Amino acid sequence: MELERELESGKAKDAAASVGKQRDGFTTALGVIAATLGSAVGLGNIWKFPSITGQNGGAAFIIVYLISTLLVGLPVMITEQMLGRKARKDAISTLRELAPKKQPWWLAGAAGVLAAFLIMAFYTEVAGWVFAYIYKSVVGGFLSTDPAVTSQAFVDLITNPMQSLLWQWVVLVVIGAILMMGVSKGIEATTKRLMPILFVLLVAIGIRSLTLEGAGEGLRFLLQPDFSKVTWTTVLVAMGLAFFKLSTGMGTMITYGSYFREEQNIPGTATKVMLADLLVSMLAGIAIFPAVFAFGFEVDAGPSLLFITIPAVFASMPLGNIFMVLFFILAGIAATGAMLSLLEVPVAFINEKMHISRPVATVITVVLLALIGSTAALSSSTLADVKIFGFTFFDLFDYTTSNILLPVGGLFIALFAGWVWGKDRIVDALTNSGALKNEWVVKAFYVVIKFVTPVLLILVLLRGLSII
Ligand code: TRP
Repeated sequence: MELERELESGKAKDAAASVGKQRDGFTTALGVIAATLGSAVGLGNIWKFPSITGQNGGAAFIIVYLISTLLVGLPVMITEQMLGRKARKDAISTLRELAPKKQPWWLAGAAGVLAAFLIMAFYTEVAGWVFAYIYKSVVGGFLSTDPAVTSQAFVDLITNPMQSLLWQWVVLVVIGAILMMGVSKGIEATTKRLMPILFVLLVAIGIRSLTLEGAGEGLRFLLQPDFSKVTWTTVLVAMGLAFFKLSTGMGTMITYGSYFREEQNIPGTATKVMLADLLVSMLAGIAIFPAVFAFGFEVDAGPSLLFITIPAVFASMPLGNIFMVLFFILAGIAATGAMLSLLEVPVAFINEKMHISRPVATVITVVLLALIGSTAALSSSTLADVKIFGFTFFDLFDYTTSNILLPVGGLFIALFAGWVWGKDRIVDALTNSGALKNEWVVKAFYVVIKFVTPVLLILVLLRGLSII
């Protein structure tokens, strides 16, 4: 009954949206922050950030990552939100509407919808492993201090085609159900509830890890830079992570920006989200590295750090089983907010552009994803031998999105804003037509988005394609 009423009111809203009356959106300033932070915080903080930091020498990498975030990630995030709020449409239609006629900037939006599917294809699989680990750590019988045993448990999971697909579908059903409820009742309400829980869990686990004997070494690894470890590759990886982390380069922030309130302070909001996201990454590092060092595990395990090293680390500490359940719940919460924002890009497009009701648009998107995602889900089992450019589907989607699609998308969005849309419109949009007294911030932002961000992105792309 409840669901039916939801669906009915959803339909009414969609109809209203199509005649331009009442479009669903975020309702409060806090809701905007919760949803946007919910998008930024994700497996990027809990899975990618620690594993990449571990492989790239710790603190020195974090500094390069920080610079990439300030000069590339944050400016593109602000730009996307600004364009989205201006047009109040899905990502493709936003760029089409704001660009001069006949200039194909909307292609950047279309590339974004494609990127959303490719990211979700592998992201739902990793999220599926997280959900599986919550279940397994609650049911028990899963703890071992021996990485060989935890490694076997992980391999058993990912090489089992049925289990891989099943957990991915569980994830898709959960995300689909929330999205069907709409922007304010689904995305905003969920992230507003989950984000505080995430912080509490993270701090609790961080304290546990820091109070272990021998935790100091891990902390030093996180905070004391050794610049001899920094190479071009480090810079490339840091830039890719900065984009991935802030959900930029593919229209997510355009779509969310289109739900922002008219009076929202965009540069302020984006900066707060960026800082809070960084805090989550550092807290995740603090939860993980001291414990990894204290028990003498390898820091450079890479992507398997979360699923092989971490369980062994938790098994080594007192009350480890409880902390392990909490840790994977935390990872599941983080992944959920991020996936809502990824899927919202195609859902909004199908809903508004093709005039298909939101619930149906959600079902279409989820079914498409189950199909595309299955190639990633099966890439450690049935499809393990299928390689494209030497990558399995899983690695292909991960690599091409972070290193090519997101930076290219970000480059076009920056070029469009700086060189086509222009200074006057930017100043007007970001000062809320003069209501905010932040003109110098906006002017500095303008110089960065027009010159600095594009040049850095072009350099990184050329390097990524091995041209320089
Ligand atoms: N930022 C999320 C994370 O770090 C992932 C994510 C959500 C994302 N939306 C995105 C990445 C859009 C790129 C583009 O886990």
